Amino acid sequence: MKNKILSILKNAGGYVSGQKLSNELNVSRTAVWKHINSLKNDGYNIASVTNKGYRLMPDCDILNANEITEALKTSFIGTNVIFYDTVDSTNNEAKRHSDKPDGTVFIADMQTSGRGRLGRAWQDKKGAAVLMSILLKPDISPAEVSKITLVAGLSVCRALLDSGARIKWPNDIVTDGKKICGILTEMSAEINMVNYAVLGIGINVNNTYFPDELKNKATSLYLVSGKKQRRAEVVLSVLEEFEKLYTEFLKNGLINIMEEYKKYCVNIGKSVRAVYRNKTVTGTAVDVNCDGGLVIKTGTENVTVSSGEVSVRGVYGYV
Ligand code: BTN
Repeated sequence: MKNKILSILKNAGGYVSGQKLSNELNVSRTAVWKHINSLKNDGYNIASVTNKGYRLMPDCDILNANEITEALKTSFIGTNVIFYDTVDSTNNEAKRHSDKPDGTVFIADMQTSGRGRLGRAWQDKKGAAVLMSILLKPDISPAEVSKITLVAGLSVCRALLDSGARIKWPNDIVTDGKKICGILTEMSAEINMVNYAVLGIGINVNNTYFPDELKNKATSLYLVSGKKQRRAEVVLSVLEEFEKLYTEFLKNGLINIMEEYKKYCVNIGKSVRAVYRNKTVTGTAVDVNCDGGLVIKTGTENVTVSSGEVSVRGVYGYV
């Protein structure tokens, strides 16, 4: 019943009288009032005005499993969503529940030990970001798993295109030269088979500021657009784009995705420094190949760096 009331209020976009809700749902006005209070307790900002009724305020940024599953148009990514008010890390949680079905999404309002790549921490303010992990069970070799990061990068870029999002190879999404999203792909595998992969995505959505050490490097959708965004909509859009691209990747690898990936990749044509396994390669990024590797022209030769444990920085700045 609560969901039906919520759906009527969402579709109405304005006030709906208690009498109309009661008639449409065939329940008493007291029952309507109780459900409205329960929705308010869940965090929904619902205005109640005498003689007008109830209105779901448009700036209401509620994130929960229901907000996702009710509206999601996918066939397996996000069919099962588990939401946490607070969790250590959604990637950790996905690993702890790796028995859940392929495509299960773990999503949190806050993480206490969010993790980034290369052992870094990922910090976020409660209720400001999209913090989610997708449990995947692909039938691919362990060596292919890091390519999922590129697939996810393009999905996020597509979903955030209106904000000017671009890809910083291999796993950052940037806007105005600052990071707006990070991706951490982890896996459990045997020598030649993947048990599961966990794709962790952190998107800065409604963050209003960043601490001094990050403010030149990080931004949020709010800071870019000046408007608060509904995190549930960001999640829906990322999951829908991801399912399309991931399905294509499982069929044909990266080959049909790379043209679009490269169109949005900010590194190409730039001077970069790639650091991996105690090696440093400096030169001009000239391509991302069909295996997802960054091709760097070092002067005399082209060196291809694969998208695993590597950090890439612009020689003259973050990008
Ligand atoms: C990076 O840029 O280094 C990757 C950051 C990945 C952060 C996300 S937030 C959701 C998921 N859970 C984690 O602990 N990390 C990822």
